[in-house]
Amino acid sequence: MENFNFKVETNILFGKGQVSKLPNVLNEFGKNVLLVYGGGSIKRNGLYDTIQELLGKDFNLFELSGVEPNPRVSTVRKGAELCREHHIDVCLAVGGGSTIDCTKAIAAATFYQGDPWDFTSDSRLVTQALPIVTILTIAATGSEMNGGSVLTNADTKEKLSFGSRKVVPKVSILDPTYTFSVPNYQTLAGSSDILSHLFENYFNKTTDTMVQDGIAEGLMRTVYHYTPIALENPENYDARANLMWASSLALNGLTGSGKSGIWSCHGMEHELSAYYDITHGIGLAIITPRWMKHILSEKTAERFAEFGHRVFDLEKDTNPMKTAEKAIELTYQTFKEWGVPMTLGEVGIDNKLLDEMAEQTVKHKELTTEAYVSLEKEDVLAIFEASLKEMTF
Ligand code: NZQ
Ligand code: ZN
Repeated sequence: MENFNFKVETNILFGKGQVSKLPNVLNEFGKNVLLVYGGGSIKRNGLYDTIQELLGKDFNLFELSGVEPNPRVSTVRKGAELCREHHIDVCLAVGGGSTIDCTKAIAAATFYQGDPWDFTSDSRLVTQALPIVTILTIAATGSEMNGGSVLTNADTKEKLSFGSRKVVPKVSILDPTYTFSVPNYQTLAGSSDILSHLFENYFNKTTDTMVQDGIAEGLMRTVYHYTPIALENPENYDARANLMWASSLALNGLTGSGKSGIWSCHGMEHELSAYYDITHGIGLAIITPRWMKHILSEKTAERFAEFGHRVFDLEKDTNPMKTAEKAIELTYQTFKEWGVPMTLGEVGIDNKLLDEMAEQTVKHKELTTEAYVSLEKEDVLAIFEASLKEMTF
């Protein structure tokens, strides 16, 4: 295990009805609130009205609506302008990862003289940020309990991230009932994103991290257990609650601390999203099993076999390669059974830009030197090409 600092300052208010504490929570920071939200799901499910009722009288509520899935840096610029103009004291992000990520960038950009896109090339430019409170409405990214933010620059077709302790939410309200209205496609995307965060940390060069890996295996089992229940019955409270808490714990440092290296599937997926504006979690589900198959070797077989044994209850074979192959097959088949579109063609991506996206992937991420298994541009291209057709086992 490697050295690490672990500090998550987010106060989590979990469970039904916790939103009633919102006025007290915000009072700690001030009266001028910027409410940030997406394309309107919070209006349709009643959360917007609840917030107005709770805050309408005692707070000066300003709004930034229309945050895009794959949030644009142009929206961040608008938000920062609003914060400066109205002397905002606290940002309230209500939505999913896109809304929360956008809010993080707004909170930091308010104090930055240059353009917020600069943060993606140097996170140290984030020197100050407005306090952030979130109300999460979809279980997926973990953004509600971490300092990461992923932004899209539509002009340059880039999707890049920054990370800073300054933008870790102060308080996050996690009420699983707000995720009842999440459509199945987004539930699938959310679950595959949670799994991917766990996989990216689990398949890692650093060995002897049983604490982190045991937590990750437990969270993976949770996601595999509850996703079909949530798909079948979107208002199953316990399924939604378990998925929600899993999303936060999968990416708050618990399973990644003490390890090093660069994530492979996220690097590749962010190029697909940047070029084709696809849903992050769906892109991950498509790429992940192809990546697993591509990097499977005598060296990695033991690890994949362990994953299959602990997460899918596969019997340990004397030949780890066999168990490993079965585990990868199950990873693929499970996504398929859940209803994830599992080829690039199904999400509108053909072979035209694969080469360019592979080039950009290795330009943006040090996958050659820092990945679990080194990936050159040719490897990334092979994974993209394999994603065009169904997998066979
Ligand atoms: O915009 P609205 O109308 O709210 O609709 C959203 C959006 O269309 C909808 N939705 C969310 N909650 C809902 C709901 N619809 C009905 N009922 C509800 N309760 O779902 C759609 C997707 O929302 P989005 O916020 O984009 O989803 P998600 O949470 O998956 O966030 C994805 C973004 O986060 C980034 C991704 O790259 C992507 O840009 N990530 C952020 C990370 C982080 N900050 O740590 C890590 C991740 O790996 C990821 O890269
Ligand atoms: Zn992700």
